[in-house]
Amino acid sequence: MSRMPTSDAGSTEPPPRSTRVLRVPADDVDPAELDAAARVLDTGGLVAFPTETVYGLGAVADDPEAVQSVFVAKGRPATDPLIVHGPSIEALEPVVDGWPDRAVALAERFWPGPLTMVLARSDRVDPAVSSGRSTVAVRVPAHPVALALLSAVGRPVAAPSANRFGRISPTTAGHVLDELDGRIDMVVDGGPTPLGVESTVVDLTGPVAELLRPGGVLLEDLEDVLGAVVHTERAVHDEGAAAAAPGRFLRHYAPTTPLVLTEGAHDLPTRLVAAVGERGVTAGVVGLDPDPQRAARSLYGALRDADRSGVALLFVAMVAPEGLGRAVNDRLYRAAHGRVVLDDLPASVERVISVCS
Ligand code: TXA
Ligand code: MG
Repeated sequence: MSRMPTSDAGSTEPPPRSTRVLRVPADDVDPAELDAAARVLDTGGLVAFPTETVYGLGAVADDPEAVQSVFVAKGRPATDPLIVHGPSIEALEPVVDGWPDRAVALAERFWPGPLTMVLARSDRVDPAVSSGRSTVAVRVPAHPVALALLSAVGRPVAAPSANRFGRISPTTAGHVLDELDGRIDMVVDGGPTPLGVESTVVDLTGPVAELLRPGGVLLEDLEDVLGAVVHTERAVHDEGAAAAAPGRFLRHYAPTTPLVLTEGAHDLPTRLVAAVGERGVTAGVVGLDPDPQRAARSLYGALRDADRSGVALLFVAMVAPEGLGRAVNDRLYRAAHGRVVLDDLPASVERVISVCS
């Protein structure tokens, strides 16, 4: 019998682990170098590894104790399910209870790649991976280190992003250590992740496909294969509603410094910094590249740097909603807890100042 993770994983401090760093250059992967990491996973340990999106925190998905320890290390509520990773669609066969034609079509087009599909779960998966749901999320990542590691393990690997729950996702091994040093067994350092934002999550269990999280594979590309895709801009749920739609919490990807998102004039963040400065509040701007792809790659690093800058309040401008911009804006909206400001009129300035008091 498998156990569900305890629902108070968020408040349980895990026993300390010593965290080893294994450097494996992404452009020259010798599979033998990953043997040590594969062994740690195979014996139920926790290994963070790079994917093309963000670093994942891996545990073998068929070992209930290993799965439980992922929730504990992250402080993640047991109600938020994990993505199961494999090196190929064939390797994920045991995890899924049948592949609908449209899933096969998506896999052919986008795997390996930043697409996660929610499908019917097979009995052979530890139910705790899916937080007890009848579905399971699966993905084949497009990163040479991830693929070599997953092949070496030869078992499906559950891997959420390698950050504490609700915090900023890691795009370097250093970020992983900032979040999880002493709580996991190993980090495979394959350098910065190329894409910078998480995979697209699409639910294929209903009559019409539903986009649950915008990400590396664009909505337009999904529509190209699937026809209609249901999607809600800024879909958010409070944490009590986790059972209905996991992972759409507003408090997600968030810096500890209060962040306010601006929409409209591109110089609005700087004008707001000046306006709140006149009222005695030190604020800063999270500067993102206007190009959506470059904005995505630097997003989480920029949020982390800004968070360390010591200001009381941060402003960031929404990026153009083209391409990866949709995913970037989704993460910014959540990182800002849904706080959006459209101008620097006195009432707006008043409102943003109240955020940090
Ligand atoms: O790019 C990514 O997807 C990264 C890398 C490591 O692969 N992983 C990642 O995992 O972002 P995580 O756990 O941070 O986010 C997974 C998302 C969550 O929003 C979760 O709620 C959703 O996928 N999810 C997982 N299983 C699901 C299921 N059975 N039904 C609906 N949503 C699910
Ligand atoms: Mg995450």
